[in-house]
Amino acid sequence: MSSEQTQDRPIGIFDSGVGGLTVVAEIFKLLPGESIVYFGDVGRYPYGGRSRETITRFARQDIGFLLEHKVKFIIAACNSASAVALDKVKEEFDAEILGVIEPGAKAAVSVTRNNRVGIIGTRATITSDSYAKAIQKRRKEVKVFSLACPLFVPLAEEGYIEKEATFLIARDYLKTLIDVDIDTLVLGCTHYPLLKKVIGEVMGKEVRLIDSAEETAREVAAVLSVRNLMRPSGGQVTHKFYVSDVPEKFSQIADRFLGRTINNITRVDITRY
Ligand code: DGL
Repeated sequence: MSSEQTQDRPIGIFDSGVGGLTVVAEIFKLLPGESIVYFGDVGRYPYGGRSRETITRFARQDIGFLLEHKVKFIIAACNSASAVALDKVKEEFDAEILGVIEPGAKAAVSVTRNNRVGIIGTRATITSDSYAKAIQKRRKEVKVFSLACPLFVPLAEEGYIEKEATFLIARDYLKTLIDVDIDTLVLGCTHYPLLKKVIGEVMGKEVRLIDSAEETAREVAAVLSVRNLMRPSGGQVTHKFYVSDVPEKFSQIADRFLGRTINNITRVDITRY
């Protein structure tokens, strides 16, 4: 296969559902010339409260599905899947796969001044300790404070973006992180960028928020460029969206996550992969 043919292939992105569209939004901004194949596992959502074995099995199938679409690069947009399954699953495939943990950890280390970093995410992400390990591998003096904030996911999906209830929950969750004097907070979940304003207000201006979706898109751009895999400009860009259950809810809330409407969402049987 010539490098031109590989460059033309789409980027594959998977997530447990609609949340990974925050990563797609950043890819659209940074790499507008790239085509995308997205898989949202809405039928088995959420991943964040599930076991390592289950998430690993799901991630394996999600990747298998994307590879059938001849993608040149795979992004595990889901923090829970990246945190608990990716190290293992990556070894099983002959494919370039990037999760969201390393880019988020890298950014946190470069931003913190007082070496005190907070991580928020789903239970699966927090229990895995993956962010803390990735941060301390880069700089072992950094102290990491991790906190699961599971209610943030349904709040973002239901459009409770700046409601009083969301502020109340955020204040309650985040007070333990305020007390430990962090200067950097990683939004370690696909849904949290939607709640940036609330989280930022509760944490205060001195705390820098790291958006793992943004950092991942930057990393993808860098890797594609170094490997000469960037799609040349011009030509038709096509985006395809697949889900593992009825697409209605996905399409209804996709606008909020992506900032644009998605048509043509196809339902697939992910258990075949
Ligand atoms: N996509 C998940 C994550 O980033 C959040 C939703 C879920 O629990 O599946 O961790």
